[in-house]
Amino acid sequence: MLVVGAGQMGAGIAQVAAQAGDSVLLNDRSEEFVDLGLRTIVKNLERALEKGRITNEERERILARIVPVLAWHDVDVDIAIEAATENLEIKLELFAKLDRHTPARAILASNTSSISITQLAAATKRPQAVIGMHYFNPVPVMRLVEIIRGIATAQETFDFVRELALAHGKTPVEVRNFPGFVSNRVLCPMLNEAIFALYESVGSVEAIDTVMKLGMNHPMGPLELADFIGLDTLLSILDVLYDGFKDPKYRPCPLLREYVDAGWLGRKTGRGFYQYAAPGGTIVARNGASATVAAR
Ligand code: CAA
Repeated sequence: MLVVGAGQMGAGIAQVAAQAGDSVLLNDRSEEFVDLGLRTIVKNLERALEKGRITNEERERILARIVPVLAWHDVDVDIAIEAATENLEIKLELFAKLDRHTPARAILASNTSSISITQLAAATKRPQAVIGMHYFNPVPVMRLVEIIRGIATAQETFDFVRELALAHGKTPVEVRNFPGFVSNRVLCPMLNEAIFALYESVGSVEAIDTVMKLGMNHPMGPLELADFIGLDTLLSILDVLYDGFKDPKYRPCPLLREYVDAGWLGRKTGRGFYQYAAPGGTIVARNGASATVAAR
């Protein structure tokens, strides 16, 4: 299997695939990005080892199954899973490239959170072999894979990725190719509404997140979850929903756009609605500036 994109999603997919016994080629734009992904996997396996969930030998075997690749001319794989940035142009270009460089038998899957599978398939000469395979973050923990058929996706393609998701220890759920599919059509308006509540000073970051954690039993409050997903990713999903349905209920909150413009992309950059000890680290403070920006 080829995994394109070694960020938090791509690295997670590579890890669960290697743990399930698959050989994985892990690719990204540069050695630095691939190394970052590999380091995340090493850290996760270290944790699993400490907890006694895997042995040292298993850890070595899992790591040996993941091979970094920078160019993928003539890669021999049954499936490529694209987990690049949530950006239509980047994904269209990648799908055209995957179509040129992978064997004719290979399935081309996208881990997109919202972009049309039909549109990605149209960038290839094998639309019947293109499908959405949407994992959730953190991939090693979350049990769902949303499987999205494009208009031309063949039944064999669907059957293959369904079996693959099961082999990865996940629960596959089939959904249709509508903007945001099911997961993000339901989740992202809720997160956006929480940002509007902050923007309109209905409550502080802490108040909004505590209401949802204690009142609704959510493991993370919506602002913490937005930071965890990445505010740029959230904004691009909301833009897809807004453009796709032409319904104002999906309009992204201006405060979200301003954070993204500022480069405050959440946990991965060390600052979003919370401040983090380091990019990808733990929360050290709520973002005081947001309350000032948000005040009317
Ligand atoms: N990678 C691997 N494992 C991780 C992890 C990571 N990044 N973060 C936590 N874990 C594991 C821990 O090792 C721990 O494992 P054990 O129970 O086996 O010991 C377990 O998860 C629980 O972790 P913690 O005790 O450290 O922390 P927690 O109980 O607060 O759980 C959490 C952390 C699982 C992330 C939890 O807060 C949670 O479920 N949050 C919501 C996550 C969510 O909604 N994800 C979906 C986002 S939307 C998306 O991904 C799709 C999209 O298109 C935008």
